[in-house]
Amino acid sequence: MPHSVLVTRKLPSSVIKKLQAEADVDVHSGDEGMPAAQLRARVADKNALVSLLTDAIDRSVIDAAPNLKVVANVAVGYNNIDVEYAKSRGVLVTHTPDVLTEAVADFTWALILAITRRLAEGERLLRRGDWKGWALDFLLGSELRGKQLGLVGVGRIGRAVAARAPAFGMNVVYTEQREIDLPNAEPISLDRLLNTSDVVSLHVPLMPETRHLIDKRALTRMKRSAYLINTARGPVVDEEALAWALQQHLLAGAALDVYENEPAVHPDLLRLENVLLLPHMASGTTETRTAMADLAANNVLAVLSGRPPLTPVP
Ligand code: GLV
Repeated sequence: MPHSVLVTRKLPSSVIKKLQAEADVDVHSGDEGMPAAQLRARVADKNALVSLLTDAIDRSVIDAAPNLKVVANVAVGYNNIDVEYAKSRGVLVTHTPDVLTEAVADFTWALILAITRRLAEGERLLRRGDWKGWALDFLLGSELRGKQLGLVGVGRIGRAVAARAPAFGMNVVYTEQREIDLPNAEPISLDRLLNTSDVVSLHVPLMPETRHLIDKRALTRMKRSAYLINTARGPVVDEEALAWALQQHLLAGAALDVYENEPAVHPDLLRLENVLLLPHMASGTTETRTAMADLAANNVLAVLSGRPPLTPVP
């Protein structure tokens, strides 16, 4: 085979077969990520790398692979890759936008409904054997109808979340400088969004400008009755500040799918009832994960055959 590909974690067999038809494929089969030294050693003679968001593709990895043409990340986010350095070394970087948009938007609404209606609290209570029977004032949540959803970031996923809002009777505001075509939604400053929204949902990529965008100051601006939802990237929220704000009841609750130091979760969050904690699974449907892996493989095959990649990072 003229080409060689390193795949850092198991992918659906249909996707591996597709790669194998065109290249020698070295797949890391362990359930844990590849240790950095092993990644550098195994990528050294490869032309393409299929990476996951848990792999740090830094300068040392790119320098270790002089024949590398493309890094195809199986994720829409690409903060795990030193994109500037890759580009400077002539290595293309691709990601998997669009194919996961609807799955993540659905999951965001699952979190919004679960935290505002206290689903996890109720389930924990029932399993503990503490349910004493129906009562009028038992585990009351708050309704979404007529409330304001504040979207911090309205790229593909933010818009798909906005599109579902009318079904729940929510008004939408969003932070965006440029005019975008989002029916029934209003652009607004971040401060005002935090001040006035009943649900604040984060949909920005992780970049230096968005790291700790939701810090202590931002959290103190939120309504005491409001909820924070994060399906973007953990470091967009200062987890320590969030745990403090929840303990002080500065907001009503939070639902998180992502964390600052995954898979670790701030221990104070684990002790709180008014926070819903999920293990980074927003795009996790069989259909979507297969489509993500397939798109990454198609990007690899395009580059190896001299065509432009389908979905390069911007
Ligand atoms: C998941 O977090 C992704 O970026 O695709």
